[in-house]
Amino acid sequence: MLSSSVSTLLTPAAALGLALITAYYLGARQSRRFRMSNFKSHVGGKEDPVMQYILNHSLREHPALKKLRLKTMEHKWNPMMVACEQSQFMANLARLVKAKKAIEIGEAETFDFVFIDADKQNYDHYYERSLQLVRKGGIIAIDNVLWSGKVLSPAEDDLDTKSIAALNKKLHRDVRVNLSMLTVGDGLSLAFKL
Ligand SMILES: *[C@@H]1O[C@H](CO)[C@@H](O)[C@H](O)[C@H]1NC(C)=O
Ligand SMILES: *[C@@H]1O[C@H](CO)[C@@H](O)[C@H](O)[C@H]1NC(C)=O
Repeated sequence: MLSSSVSTLLTPAAALGLALITAYYLGARQSRRFRMSNFKSHVGGKEDPVMQYILNHSLREHPALKKLRLKTMEHKWNPMMVACEQSQFMANLARLVKAKKAIEIGEAETFDFVFIDADKQNYDHYYERSLQLVRKGGIIAIDNVLWSGKVLSPAEDDLDTKSIAALNKKLHRDVRVNLSMLTVGDGLSLAFKL
């Protein structure tokens, strides 16, 4: 999906944003879900003038990224795409922690930045594994923590939502990290390892 010829054209930050979008696609296979569009700027933002203003005044898309985004939005899985302002934000964040290696769960080493977005029922497992992989001061970014707002009242048989809600609760009192929960995209929690 991500051709190396395209990625060599990009600045490191833009390339990271692109890699995260692509990584999201890989994780999305197991976790395809219907989601309301109100948290997804690239879908619902069109109807929200303030969101549109934010995008108009902050998105700095590389032409190759824009092309990929427009292509992705034609795809039936387009609701699974990471909000474009979210990938830009994470790229900036990775730069802030001087990320040399960003990772989507699956490999072992000491990383600066981990992005968790795979199957929701294993979120806690991925989080614990990430804590082992990430260095002190590194960032664990956890996607879809609002899950279209379903986390407010998870249905008894909705294991995905219950799993996300349980991790949110755990993170709130986890003394191993500093924490922020952002309303970007479908909800993005940032855990800064102490
Ligand atoms: C955002 O940009 C689009 C395209 O240039 C324009 O049509 C729209 O009016 C702008 N909206 C706001 C709120 O800035
Ligand atoms: C981060 O955690 C440390 C250790 O618990 C605490 O002293 C500090 O106030 C926290 N920072 C923020 C911004 O919450």
